[in-house]
Amino acid sequence: MRNLLISVLILLLISTIQVQAELQFVFEIYRHGARGPLGDWYDANEQKYTYGQLTATGQRQHYNLGVQLRNEYSGFLPDSYNHTQIYVRSSDVNRTLMSAASQLQGMFPAGTGDVLPLNLTEQYTLPAFANAQNYLKSNYSLPNNIQVVPIHTQSRVGDKVLQPESNCKNLKQKTEEFYKEKQSTIDFINKQFEQTYQSYSKAVNREVKNFNNQHSLESVFECDRANGRYVPDFTQELKDNSTYLTSLSWNFLFNQPELLRGLNQPFFSSFFDYTDPIVKKNNTEGLKWVMFSAHDTNVQLISAALNFTSIDCLLALRFEEYRKKDQAFYNCEYYPHFTSNIIFELHLSDKPTEENGVQIQQNEYYLKIRRDGKFMKLCEKNSTICSYNEFNQRIQQFMLNYDTVCQNTEQQNQDTTQKAEDYSTYYIVGLILQSVIIAGCAFYIFQLLQKQKSLLNFEQFKDIEAADIRNSQ
Ligand SMILES: *[C@@H]1O[C@H](CO)[C@@H](O)[C@H](O)[C@H]1NC(C)=O
Ligand SMILES: *[C@@H]1O[C@H](CO)[C@@H](O)[C@H](O)[C@H]1NC(C)=O
Ligand SMILES: *[C@@H]1O[C@H](CO)[C@@H](O)[C@H](O)[C@H]1NC(C)=O
Ligand SMILES: *[C@@H]1O[C@H](CO)[C@@H](O)[C@H](O)[C@H]1NC(C)=O
Ligand SMILES: *[C@@H]1O[C@H](CO)[C@@H](O)[C@H](O)[C@H]1NC(C)=O
Ligand SMILES: *[C@@H]1O[C@H](CO)[C@@H](O)[C@H](O)[C@H]1NC(C)=O
Ligand SMILES: *[C@@H]1O[C@H](CO)[C@@H](O)[C@H](O)[C@H]1NC(C)=O
Ligand SMILES: *[C@@H]1O[C@H](CO)[C@@H](O)[C@H](O)[C@H]1NC(C)=O
Repeated sequence: MRNLLISVLILLLISTIQVQAELQFVFEIYRHGARGPLGDWYDANEQKYTYGQLTATGQRQHYNLGVQLRNEYSGFLPDSYNHTQIYVRSSDVNRTLMSAASQLQGMFPAGTGDVLPLNLTEQYTLPAFANAQNYLKSNYSLPNNIQVVPIHTQSRVGDKVLQPESNCKNLKQKTEEFYKEKQSTIDFINKQFEQTYQSYSKAVNREVKNFNNQHSLESVFECDRANGRYVPDFTQELKDNSTYLTSLSWNFLFNQPELLRGLNQPFFSSFFDYTDPIVKKNNTEGLKWVMFSAHDTNVQLISAALNFTSIDCLLALRFEEYRKKDQAFYNCEYYPHFTSNIIFELHLSDKPTEENGVQIQQNEYYLKIRRDGKFMKLCEKNSTICSYNEFNQRIQQFMLNYDTVCQNTEQQNQDTTQKAEDYSTYYIVGLILQSVIIAGCAFYIFQLLQKQKSLLNFEQFKDIEAADIRNSQ
């Protein structure tokens, strides 16, 4: 018995070492930790002082994730910070910057920081400042021997990689078109969940009309639960329904096919900029770990691009009428919670490898991808491995040019100006006509709104993070 146990342990150890030997590079992207609520559902208005900021809980969540990654990737991640091996980038938002700092404290914890050179004279520790003093008596650079790590960022305007939705001019138009196209599915969903909406409406004394409302409300509940605030007690079934509806809402928001393919392009281009040199054996710097600190929008977009989630798989989970005979969904993830993350592992096989029919040759690069720690099925196969070449080809075929999809062209602005000048003689006539048309449209829209109260309302989305900034543009 004991012998068996020992052999099993040895086998496990060998297989761990094997995986470590094959791992070449890790790319991590995640959502920040718990924050103060955004928007105005439930008790959000009572918490304006923490509006969108990372909370104490959020810091702890990312610290814990950092420690876990340090353990799971020990032997691959260096024990102490090495500037050539680690690169960290964050969106320029307080909560993502602070999440990165918190996670890095777990990854390179107190005790792994720098130490002053031997026999250093105290005078060299003093800053250039009148009456300067040395406040730390140990030879640690910083108290408790902590390590600080550089976190790179780019301002929101122009950061297409980490804030693609807020730099996309016609995002709203594309999404609205998609909603119209999917109206019958949306009606079906809202009908199935009437009872759920009623229960939540009663609990918060405000009408929940559709899954976007449910999403906005759930988002405040998620904050409140994480931050130790009171949330009404719901049955597990109601909680599950809310998670499910929030996940659908996310997929409707970004899964207009062109939009999804355009919004993902800057991220994946950046991803391949890191991985291509490794595969071409040109990783001269020795970079091992890239960390992007970002938002639920990013985790959602990438998850949808990689077939980790979709409207179709979510509907098939619950409704017979949306199940198709020969359609298998290997993954179906819910929406990204706080700290939700995607970890791309780039491996180089040192022997032929096989998993459920998918084969990797010796000396071939392949990917494994984790969503929230779980290895996902890749490349439309029932397998968690996919060769780098196949993955690369699939993504290249999938991507559409971001600026084209978003209609962010300079050219277009100039054209509009040009036209305005050409027609300047008709300006006054135009103005009068315009007023009449606007008044007519306003009346028509008013009547339409009266008719279709359950129509999805975009203003409800002002409380989705990253969208909060979008609206202040
Ligand atoms: C970031 O924090 C500062 C205060 O530290 C605050 O003034 C600012 O509004 C915050 N920015 C965002 C985007 O929340
Ligand atoms: C730092 O101080 C500790 C004891 O306080 C000593 O053991 C260690 O050698 C010192 N290291 C350096 C680099 O000075
Ligand atoms: C540090 O000081 C000790 C004691 O004065 C001495 O033996 C040692 O050589 C010094 N080390 C260096 C690197 O200067
Ligand atoms: C939960 O969702 C199902 C549809 O999947 C619905 O039939 C049921 O009424 C909902 N439960 C509650 C308590 O609202
Ligand atoms: C290798 O990378 C360097 C920069 O890091 C670049 O200048 C060079 O062109 C690359 N070589 C190949 C073969 O891609
Ligand atoms: C840091 O990483 C580089 C590249 O992997 C390596 O050559 C170097 O020895 C490392 N430095 C330390 C102090 O471990
Ligand atoms: C996702 O699924 C579609 C088919 O629905 C396929 O064309 C695409 O290549 C898949 N993407 C990846 C990354 O496997
Ligand atoms: C995938 O393979 C596993 C066995 O590794 C099997 O249990 C499962 O049913 C398969 N899933 C699908 C959707 O074929």
